[in-house]
Amino acid sequence: MTSSIVMDSVSKQFTLRHAKTLKRMVMRAAKGKPLKDSFYAVRDVSFEVEQGESIGLMGHNGSGKTTLLKLASGVMRPDEGEVRVRGRIAGLVELGAGFHNDLTGRENVFLNAAILGMSEKETRTKFDQIVDFAGVERFIDTEILHYSSGMRMRLGFAIAVEAPGEVFLIDEGLAVGDAPFKKKCITKIKELNQVEGRTIFLVSHSVKQVQRICDRALVLEQGSLAFDGTPKEAVKFMRGDEDLEDEDPLDF
Ligand SMILES: Nc1ncnc2c1ncn2[C@@H]1O[C@H](COP(=O)(O)OP(=O)(O)OP(=O)(O)O)[C@@H](O)[C@H]1O
Ligand SMILES: [Mg+2]
Repeated sequence: MTSSIVMDSVSKQFTLRHAKTLKRMVMRAAKGKPLKDSFYAVRDVSFEVEQGESIGLMGHNGSGKTTLLKLASGVMRPDEGEVRVRGRIAGLVELGAGFHNDLTGRENVFLNAAILGMSEKETRTKFDQIVDFAGVERFIDTEILHYSSGMRMRLGFAIAVEAPGEVFLIDEGLAVGDAPFKKKCITKIKELNQVEGRTIFLVSHSVKQVQRICDRALVLEQGSLAFDGTPKEAVKFMRGDEDLEDEDPLDF
């Protein structure tokens, strides 16, 4: 087996500023308080993802999931440790990132696809498929400014799954879609994984989603890797923390 993503003792720190105005800075300094603090958003995280694996990344808000995904995608560099990725990264670290409000859905498909590494010819070939998957045919020549957030997300997702790349990252991508669309996305992600053999790295708050899609789950707690195992065990681990029995039955 070949590794697709390797994180070796990876840490990322951010700085919190306490005083934004000069007056506050002077007052804090006079009291001997620090003007800024740094904290670890990701702390000493190590794991390996094998090629073709499907990993779910879970954890509370602010636990460092998006930061870890950004480190994996190369959008951010770690302060300590090393990130190694084999193959091209595709996917959505941010929903509809790169969409321009003043351009139509059609124009945005071409622009976004180009950002994600598709040629114009390739995009033309896949255009109908993308629009059909997103279900936005009627609005494709409307400015994206007038799209609902769900429609933006659908279009963003539909483009991302057509983009080339051995590793598919997705951050909360399925969070704003309605139930039928979530089902469709899950089927598509499984196809990318099982048919095309792509590595999947999915951030999700939904235990069910992770169980349906992933063969392994990681749980972050305040930036540290607290759990690495099967999705089933991850649920038990998370249950120790809160009652997940009450999850919405419609939550796919
Ligand atoms: N650029 C930044 N500058 C300063 N702090 C940041 C920055 N990006 C993230 N953080 C902080 O790092 C911590 C982890 O953020 P991150 O977005 O990775 O969390 P998350 O697990 O994705 O949360 P959520 O479930 O809400 O999406 C948070 O405390 C956040 O405020
Ligand atoms: Mg996040």
